[in-house]
Amino acid sequence: MSLPRPVTDALDTALDKVVIAGYSSIGPALRRRWWPADPQAGALEGRHVLVTGASRGLGLAAATDLARLGASVHLLGRDQARLDEAAAGIRISVPNAQVLPEACDVSDLDDVRAYAARTLEAVPRLHALIHNAGVMPETRTESAQGIELTLATHVVGPLLLTELLRPALAAAEGSRVLIMSSGGMYSAPLGGAWPRDLQYREGTYRGIRAYARTKRLQVLLAEQLATRLDDDGIVVHSLHPGWAATEGVVESMPAFNRALRPILRDAQSGADTLVWLTAAPEAASSTGLFWSDRKPRPTTYLPWTTEDPRLRRQVWDAVAALAGIDHAPA
Ligand SMILES: NC(=O)c1ccc[n+]([C@@H]2O[C@H](COP(=O)([O-])OP(=O)(O)OC[C@H]3O[C@@H](n4cnc5c(N)ncnc54)[C@H](OP(=O)(O)O)[C@@H]3O)[C@@H](O)[C@H]2O)c1
Repeated sequence: MSLPRPVTDALDTALDKVVIAGYSSIGPALRRRWWPADPQAGALEGRHVLVTGASRGLGLAAATDLARLGASVHLLGRDQARLDEAAAGIRISVPNAQVLPEACDVSDLDDVRAYAARTLEAVPRLHALIHNAGVMPETRTESAQGIELTLATHVVGPLLLTELLRPALAAAEGSRVLIMSSGGMYSAPLGGAWPRDLQYREGTYRGIRAYARTKRLQVLLAEQLATRLDDDGIVVHSLHPGWAATEGVVESMPAFNRALRPILRDAQSGADTLVWLTAAPEAASSTGLFWSDRKPRPTTYLPWTTEDPRLRRQVWDAVAALAGIDHAPA
């Protein structure tokens, strides 16, 4: 029996508000009864897709499913041996998979420039650029260029990589940039003092807070890039995967992992919306939205978390300056 749309919409929103139900494996178990159809078999045949953070966890799960849909998948991570191992695993799961592992540290802007130059030569048309790489360091750490590590990995590096690969994205019809944020971004609304201290130099550093702030910045990044890349027909979305059992969660949030392990999503389920946004034609008919479980979601829930446009602009200017790109509006 299929339920009428107003009923499924109300159920879906209620699941989102009861965070533990919506974010855990319960969310997709219920929502798959009404969410949009799976991408068609072979939907990505002949298309190139680049996944950062593809050596394990959600990135590896997404890369596997994208290869299954026929894409040539470029696997990016910091370590060539780990990427080669991930590629071998994908080839076992998906016979004839086209996977191209190549190391790059997205937090290192010099490495990003060199990697982008090689990619532009090899890949004239890029269907999707997926920014999935993520970190949650325990102590304040800096990238090769002296940028706080979560900011460099989640925001500055991805912005520069997007900018440099723009010609290849613009050359592909229906191309998209997808940014894997986190539901944790709801705990760091863009307000108060922290947006003026993007590098987290003030106060006691807490990795989980740095993570949440930069995951909020990824949502802003998607919105800004959506405007900036619109003329080239490139859509940009951010998303959150729910709570999924990955090595990253075990290492960075062991207590959370122990408490919720029985109801965490598996990596494939955590990667579902990422894969769907990459392959589904529906994703190209809007831009700048924040998704979860195949549906756009609000980026703030409380009225006092509405963002000040001047602050958004200041933050965007600061991030663009760190990436060394022209930060004029689109
Ligand atoms: N799992 C969850 O429940 C959950 C929830 C919300 C959001 N997310 C987001 O989903 C994404 C994936 O999470 P996950 O749980 O799969 O994490 P994970 O298991 O820790 O995997 C992270 C991946 O990022 C790569 N990486 C880290 N720093 C990098 C860098 N500087 N350059 C290139 N690659 C880098 C790692 O590869 P190497 O170490 O080999 O470089 C690894 O492949 C993250 O952005 C995370 O914030 C996850």
